[in-house]
Amino acid sequence: MTLSKCLEVEKVVKHYSHNGKHVHALDQVTFHVHKKEFICIIGPSGCGKSTLLKIIAGLDRPTSGEVRFQGETVKEPHPKISMVFQSFALFPWRTVLQNVEFGLETRGVPKAERRKIALELLELVGLKGYENAYPKELSGGMKQRVGIARALAVDPEIVLMDEAFSAIDEFTAQVLRNEVLELWEETEKTFILVTHNLTEALEMADRIIVLSTRPAKVKHEYHVSLKRPRNRSDSKFLRCQKELFNILKSELEHTIVRHKLKAIHEHFKIEDMESFQR
Ligand SMILES: Nc1ncnc2c1ncn2[C@@H]1O[C@H](COP(=O)(O)OP(=O)(O)OP(=O)(O)O)[C@@H](O)[C@H]1O
Ligand SMILES: [Mg+2]
Repeated sequence: MTLSKCLEVEKVVKHYSHNGKHVHALDQVTFHVHKKEFICIIGPSGCGKSTLLKIIAGLDRPTSGEVRFQGETVKEPHPKISMVFQSFALFPWRTVLQNVEFGLETRGVPKAERRKIALELLELVGLKGYENAYPKELSGGMKQRVGIARALAVDPEIVLMDEAFSAIDEFTAQVLRNEVLELWEETEKTFILVTHNLTEALEMADRIIVLSTRPAKVKHEYHVSLKRPRNRSDSKFLRCQKELFNILKSELEHTIVRHKLKAIHEHFKIEDMESFQR
């Protein structure tokens, strides 16, 4: 793996003020990402994960601190950084093909060229034949395939994914995770996935950034040493899962009383809670 630094999140602070209410979302969040790394960001509900991704994408600005992409401060949506949303965020009035073409259209790519790129991507994500369908005619998994194709259409260097697999059924999610991993392996792209799902993070990431409760700070960087392809039932995988769970638990126990551990276990999708408490 090339270890050139591609993204630097440097002391990012975010405060929101809305209708007289003040929220401190991010507190001095610092981490660096290398080209072609697969990063997962994990943290408690409402801690500021989506806020952080939006700032990386240039869709929002930090109160202080900065995000640098290839050494330059990100101040607005960057052409080489694209995003996949949990809620798909497709345009309901546009067909599948028109949705995938969107980013290319806004960049002034000629019609014939953007059509060619969009058709290739729809084939890649297994949606050949659905070009003229509208989002409402698609299942959740198919909508997310469109979301992924749309993000890839602009040939980004960084793909940001905000809980991209959590609004679809588990079977489809597993298929999509594998497809995203294949894509990542075949290209030089860097992926940053925000997730609640600890098993998903271990399955996909080279490195897992663990955030604290709000205001989010980086509590831990967990390097995943497991060889790929990874197997969820492998004993080494289970050992890492337990280790990561304990890191999260020690963070969450500061703020969440012990009888709420079951909720934490559900939140982070730990299947066998008993074994974690032994
Ligand atoms: N545009 C906004 N205006 C005001 N407050 C906001 C805004 N966006 C987010 N917040 C607040 O910032 C905090 C962090 O929100 P954010 O959506 O980033 O958390 P999250 O970790 O992604 O949550 P979840 O786990 O539910 O997806 C929350 O308290 C939220 O209400
Ligand atoms: Mg979120």
